Amino acid sequence: AKLLVLNGPNLNLLGTREPGIYGTQTLDQIQQHLCTVASTLGHQCDCLQSNREYELIERIHAAMTDGTDFIIINPGALTHTSIALRDALLGVKIPFIEVHLSNVHAREEFRQHSYLSDIAVGVIAGLGPQGYELAMLAASQQLAKQ
Ligand code: DQA
Repeated sequence: AKLLVLNGPNLNLLGTREPGIYGTQTLDQIQQHLCTVASTLGHQCDCLQSNREYELIERIHAAMTDGTDFIIINPGALTHTSIALRDALLGVKIPFIEVHLSNVHAREEFRQHSYLSDIAVGVIAGLGPQGYELAMLAASQQLAKQ
């Protein structure tokens, strides 16, 4: 199957950005590992990080016609603000898992609302980079069930 891994604003800074909260792995390292896991599971994996809401929405739209079966998305702060991202995911009807490196529920109140969680297959928060990998395993099992 074809898996799409999306990361939103500021996640390009992983490794140096607030390492106490987000860890020391860079996004490159995380993505490379994910692609290895994907191929071990027999899947294709495409990764995109963008600081632009527009670019993430366009990529989600493209996923509708490029054969993407499942999306794993860490929307960064867009989680808490973006009705447009929600509508894009609803519009393409591709199942997705929402991932957060940090436990957003243990942080500021404004991080505790997500515009995506109620339409996600599942949500993983607080497990650091492992969250993406667990999401990928879950996606793989979901797809096998179909
Ligand atoms: C985040 C949590 C968000 O609240 C924050 O804005 C981020 C990263 C996380 O992975 O923990 O940019 O999505």
